Amino acid sequence: MSDKFAQLILEGKTYTFPVYEGSYGEKAIDISTLLKQTGHITLDRGYVNTGSCTSDITYLDGKAGVLDYRGYAIEELAENCSFVEVAYLLLHGDLPNEQELMEYRDLMSQYALIHEDMIHFFDHFPPNAEPMSILSTMVNSLHNFYPELTTHPDPTETFDSITARLLSKVRTIAAFSYKKSKGHPLIYPRYDLNYCENFLNMMFDTPTRPYKILPEVVSTLNKLLILHADHEQNCSTSTVRLVGSAGVSLYASIASGINALWGPLHGGAAQEVVEMLEGIYADDKDFEKYIRKAKDHSDPYRLSGFGHRVYKTFDPRAQIIKKSCDETLAALNVSDPLLDVAKELAERVRNDDYFVSRNLYPNVDFYSGIIYRAMGIPTNMFTVMFALGRLPGWLAHWREMIGNKESRRIGRPRQLYIGPTRRRFIPLGERK
Ligand code: ACO
Repeated sequence: MSDKFAQLILEGKTYTFPVYEGSYGEKAIDISTLLKQTGHITLDRGYVNTGSCTSDITYLDGKAGVLDYRGYAIEELAENCSFVEVAYLLLHGDLPNEQELMEYRDLMSQYALIHEDMIHFFDHFPPNAEPMSILSTMVNSLHNFYPELTTHPDPTETFDSITARLLSKVRTIAAFSYKKSKGHPLIYPRYDLNYCENFLNMMFDTPTRPYKILPEVVSTLNKLLILHADHEQNCSTSTVRLVGSAGVSLYASIASGINALWGPLHGGAAQEVVEMLEGIYADDKDFEKYIRKAKDHSDPYRLSGFGHRVYKTFDPRAQIIKKSCDETLAALNVSDPLLDVAKELAERVRNDDYFVSRNLYPNVDFYSGIIYRAMGIPTNMFTVMFALGRLPGWLAHWREMIGNKESRRIGRPRQLYIGPTRRRFIPLGERK
């Protein structure tokens, strides 16, 4: 119950609505009775100002550039934790102790393989199939191979096994899809390797040329996955919650999240960034031309990797990853001219009024693409990497949604109809 209220005066009449406060004093007016009380709905295109739920998973302050998972600063988690520890934190609400972590890791290793019948699916995609389409198809079809977990009357009871299964299988599917696209033999997951080592090994080990796992690369991949692990009610997470609210299986909800993430305005941005930097480099580094295009509202072109719906200052994830970018390229002994193009572009944007006045700073995806490229991950798989990282967040939100009576209601926004009013039906032969 709330002891604070907001009043709305509409056509001379006063209506009262409860005001709720978040952990840091953020305020929300509960307008769920607005329609009933006033006959009006709220209109909020793109949900710029609409809270769809309460949540205790992630705290984000876009003005101050703060991001916390379950109360822990992203900087500390990225520096000190493994991705699996952070996944456990998001899923369970607390960091695991050593025993809990060991048990969860064991569960993941146990489920790392995918049903051999699913491997045949890869053979039937066309050679240039989009990796995100393959990933969502495969995740959706997990429902047919492991239905017992999602048809359990209380899905929270099977949650540990289904999340461990998804986290390790999605990693296996991602690596297998890469191997299939190369026409190389599949490399199976190994019990002795940790999550990131296993992924890199499945991606790059070959029977003729063993892959050397570098600790610097493992550490950067671990950081990247942690930085992407959750970001509260973004487009793909809201999709997972909305689709899940219809009562479909967890696999179907996650597959929908993967499809939402695919978009260039969301998870597809890292790929767009590298393609943009390649374009600028190939165009004799004509920065001014691209900046001009991005500023011209009659041109749909935008500088990828700049701007964010919520951050109106530096994206804290971009700050962390910018540092790792130099370190990883040095460890791999890679000198990438695109990194210089990226740095110069960021510098020009930082001094340009258009971007400064609109608070358009580099976001997390501005640097992640350059790192993935140095690791040898192909550009069309960058969004798959994002999906691997975001999976624990999607799972945590799905669990929160089904475990909470209020937010479990089926998601169903309203609309303001602006089409034609009722008109006379004209039979086919009489239409002009
Ligand atoms: N380049 C040029 N102008 C931009 C850019 C950009 N990258 N981003 C925003 N703007 C401008 C808009 O044209 C608009 O200008 P106006 O006020 O004169 O009309 C103003 O800045 C505000 O932009 P909106 O589109 O209203 O901001 P919104 O919050 O809706 O969009 C978004 C955020 C989608 C991230 C946007 O900044 C963008 O398209 N960025 C490029 C794509 C990108 O990097 N996406 C990744 C986001 S991070 C993630 O998903 C992990």
